[in-house]
Amino acid sequence: SVLEMEVEQIKKGSYDHFMQKEIHEQPHSLTTTMRGRLKDGGVLLGGLKEHLKTIRRCRRVVFIGCGTSYNAALAARPFVEELTGIPVTMEVASDLLDRQGPIYREDTAVFVSQSGETADTLLALDYALENGALCVGITNTVGSTLSRKTHCGVHINAGCEIGVASTKAYTSQIVAMAMMALAIGSDQISTQARRNAIISGLTSLPSCVSGVLKLDAEMKELASSLIDSESLLVFGRGYNYATALEGALKVKEVALMHSEGMLAGEMKHGPLALVDENLPIIVIATRDACFSKQQSVIQQLLSRKGRLVVMCSKGDASAVCPNGSCRVIEVPGVADCLQPVINIIPLQLLAYHLTVLRGFDVDQPRNLAKSVTTQ
Ligand code: AGP
Repeated sequence: SVLEMEVEQIKKGSYDHFMQKEIHEQPHSLTTTMRGRLKDGGVLLGGLKEHLKTIRRCRRVVFIGCGTSYNAALAARPFVEELTGIPVTMEVASDLLDRQGPIYREDTAVFVSQSGETADTLLALDYALENGALCVGITNTVGSTLSRKTHCGVHINAGCEIGVASTKAYTSQIVAMAMMALAIGSDQISTQARRNAIISGLTSLPSCVSGVLKLDAEMKELASSLIDSESLLVFGRGYNYATALEGALKVKEVALMHSEGMLAGEMKHGPLALVDENLPIIVIATRDACFSKQQSVIQQLLSRKGRLVVMCSKGDASAVCPNGSCRVIEVPGVADCLQPVINIIPLQLLAYHLTVLRGFDVDQPRNLAKSVTTQ
């Protein structure tokens, strides 16, 4: 009805679509995720406090989720391992159920879900509860089935997300898991300096996100150069393997363009055969311990005449692309393990503009539902 349409427009404010609004809202949603939780150089997570001792003693952390929520957990994996010393394994919820994979009493199973109502994730939760694991929920929805059935957890407080494509929930999930890792690791003296650096990184994150959002026009321009491509590859590694998967998921689900995120370390084991002067490839090469490895990946791709777009840290354009042979996206730098929060934003903007330019429905992509409540 006309009334319903007007209400929708009011909720969108000055934006054309919810996805666009939610992308641009991220400096604010990240602030609310952290509000009241970073205290005196430490982290306070009320919903986990009573269980931290048990988690510290567990044999492993198993992350379980679907789609974007799985990708957020994948982004968290490296810093959870680093700050807690606990082995972390990853499970796509449906695959864990298909395999009836081993889950033990000594495991901490962390369930990540924006809606808290995804059927696959909830069935995996029932399965982990039956197997006696400590079950932790990371969700955006207070009172959801996930938040009620888990033993403890963290609400990400990103605010209601309406666009089918998850954007602000992804970045808030990563930040919530960073705070969780800091809380679990807070008894370790040897990582105190590292924890302090990450906490100050978290504090500067909202302003850093505002900075990276200024790439909007540049991403629109990049989108217009990719509008007729059949496919788009995204290479990442380390902290930004998840960024590659999540960027590609956004492009396929809203822009309806084939896209794959890949581990750069796997490139020479197959994907390299696809490279030619037509296939666009985004390489994520911001500064971290993997930087020189990514530089050599770029060299190998260029020597095969690859059509490259390289995402790098501010000031690194000539370090990643010596003779201007590729397109460069320069992003602001934060603590390396939080860099995925920054790096996904240009890719969210790219997917958004690609969708609009290709004339598809941004907020309701064909065949998809916001919350997948069937198996
Ligand atoms: C994200 O853009 C997708 N729409 C989808 O992958 C989603 O993340 C997945 O269905 C999981 O949803 P949840 O976080 O609500 O559990």
